[in-house]
Amino acid sequence: MKAIVFQQYGSPDFLQLKEVEKPVPKDNEVLIKVHAVSINEWDWAILHGVPFANRLAYGLFKPRLQILGADVAGRIEAVGNNVRRFRSGDEVFGDLCRSGWGGFAEYTCAHEKALVPKPASLTYEQSASLPQAGLLAVQGLRKGKLQQQPVHQAKKVLINGASGGVGTIAVQIAKSCGAEVTGVCSTAKMELVRSLGVDHVIDYTKEDFTKNGQQYDLILDVKATHPVLDCKHALCPAGVYILVGGASSVVNQLMLLGPLISLTSKKKMSLLLYKPNKGLDYLIELIESGKVHPVVDKIYPLSETVDAFRYYGDGRARGKVVITVAHSAAS
Ligand SMILES: NC(=O)c1ccc[n+]([C@@H]2O[C@H](COP(=O)([O-])OP(=O)(O)OC[C@H]3O[C@@H](n4cnc5c(N)ncnc54)[C@H](OP(=O)(O)O)[C@@H]3O)[C@@H](O)[C@H]2O)c1
Repeated sequence: MKAIVFQQYGSPDFLQLKEVEKPVPKDNEVLIKVHAVSINEWDWAILHGVPFANRLAYGLFKPRLQILGADVAGRIEAVGNNVRRFRSGDEVFGDLCRSGWGGFAEYTCAHEKALVPKPASLTYEQSASLPQAGLLAVQGLRKGKLQQQPVHQAKKVLINGASGGVGTIAVQIAKSCGAEVTGVCSTAKMELVRSLGVDHVIDYTKEDFTKNGQQYDLILDVKATHPVLDCKHALCPAGVYILVGGASSVVNQLMLLGPLISLTSKKKMSLLLYKPNKGLDYLIELIESGKVHPVVDKIYPLSETVDAFRYYGDGRARGKVVITVAHSAAS
């Protein structure tokens, strides 16, 4: 089968289209004929071997994991002896980051628990765009207790990084919960963020959300572009700040200062610890009820995965970048 393989840490130039052996499912696994797979920041980070924690997990000097790709959608081709939830022919999607990755390929194997049925209303490409980014949004907003707001009292929510995979979903969920939402993005992506229904857009090249005098009940920070104490100033007296990811200097600051801030004020500031596939049913519900829609920017064929990674790495993506995997009638 064809797969995008990398054998050395570095830039997208190290991704190569190769012929490799088709995997065979273990007893609790299914073999998935991959139809679509999306690029996440995590793929980018492992490809580059940063931060160092990724090298501890995926290979110190060279990658043990040779085929990236966690968020896949496809059709089940074969099932292991102990698989109970799926049969051959079922359409599925999910995040395989705890199940061996391997999505940038014609076929991959995954534990049956890493998958759920693909909603009929979504294409493979839309489905593959959702797991990691969509669930970081769901879990981040849940940790920030967004859903617990009284209906009559709209919460002021700010999403920093509103134009990316996480931000485009987070904005829509926050709006569907009745919040007054501010999205922070670059000039070129303001129209996209507006089209998602935000109440206010901040262009971070012209305005600093921590210094404009506004305060928020909840800040979901996908990029970690400001020092923790600046973000604290942008919180209402009992506001919550949830850091999804970004600059490790800010992550380290938060680990140190977060507990102190919680002890000495009513403000809560903490880091999200992502749980793969947790909340996927809720996300599907939001999508099927029309409250949230996947935002897919560009779709590339598997043979152009290198270009797709370059496009993603240049920061041009509006929402998600997806790879589609074509299969000939014989394959
Ligand atoms: N907590 C966990 O357990 C966990 C697990 C996995 C991943 N993560 C994190 O999850 C995040 C994934 O985010 P994603 O999928 O949304 O990434 P993405 O699709 O690459 O989007 C990132 C967005 O950030 C915006 N951005 C860049 N500079 C900015 C700035 N200075 N201010 C505001 N926005 C800025 C970019 O848009 P513009 O062009 O508009 O700037 C881009 O659209 C990463 O931070 C990753 O580290 C966390």
